[in-house]
Amino acid sequence: MKFFVDTADLDDIQEANDMGILDGVTTNPSLVKEQGNVDFHEHVFKICEIVDGDVSAEVTATDFDGMMEEAHTLTQVHENVVVKIPLIKEGIKALRALDEEGIETNCTLCFSPSQALLAAKAGADYISPFLGRVDDISADGMTLVEEIREIYDNYDFETEILAASIRHPTHVKRAALAGADVATMPFETLIDLLDHPLTDRGLERFLAD
Ligand code: E4P
Repeated sequence: MKFFVDTADLDDIQEANDMGILDGVTTNPSLVKEQGNVDFHEHVFKICEIVDGDVSAEVTATDFDGMMEEAHTLTQVHENVVVKIPLIKEGIKALRALDEEGIETNCTLCFSPSQALLAAKAGADYISPFLGRVDDISADGMTLVEEIREIYDNYDFETEILAASIRHPTHVKRAALAGADVATMPFETLIDLLDHPLTDRGLERFLAD
């Protein structure tokens, strides 16, 4: 399973990368906004210089021409950029066109298996089901991942399932059990994966002995 951090914070990305287990980064407009008044393209370049892996950067246009224009600009920023496209009708068209141009894409804001099926048919490289946000409305986000896995396996789709909107270590564990290809998580959740009281207690005892 690949691990991505879901943040635009350069220090957190550096720290995760230093652990040696980071495979990529996902950002979105809200995460970039948290960084203050930064130049978007320069910031994406800085992220790409830290991590040797796919870095998702999202378009903000909602029409086909606008998405294509932003995608072309983003791919000039760095070779590791994966263009994040929202799961709307114009987005499906853009996914298909970008796939034909050999540009890598991450289809974002996926909340149903049928949306994921469309994205895979359009040639998305990644599909991002937002588990946490599904849980937020009292549904089961993990069922979404499981169903997408089954559908993609039924038809040998190569689109990678990128479990997103992960909020805690149990989400990561269950996404791994469900066969998600990637988990993208906040830096804090990555660190929380380490936590176990018996590890702390055991280490304390070993060090004391
Ligand atoms: C994924 O690419 C998104 O950036 C992200 O996982 C959204 O998570 P949130 O629901 O915690 O905002």
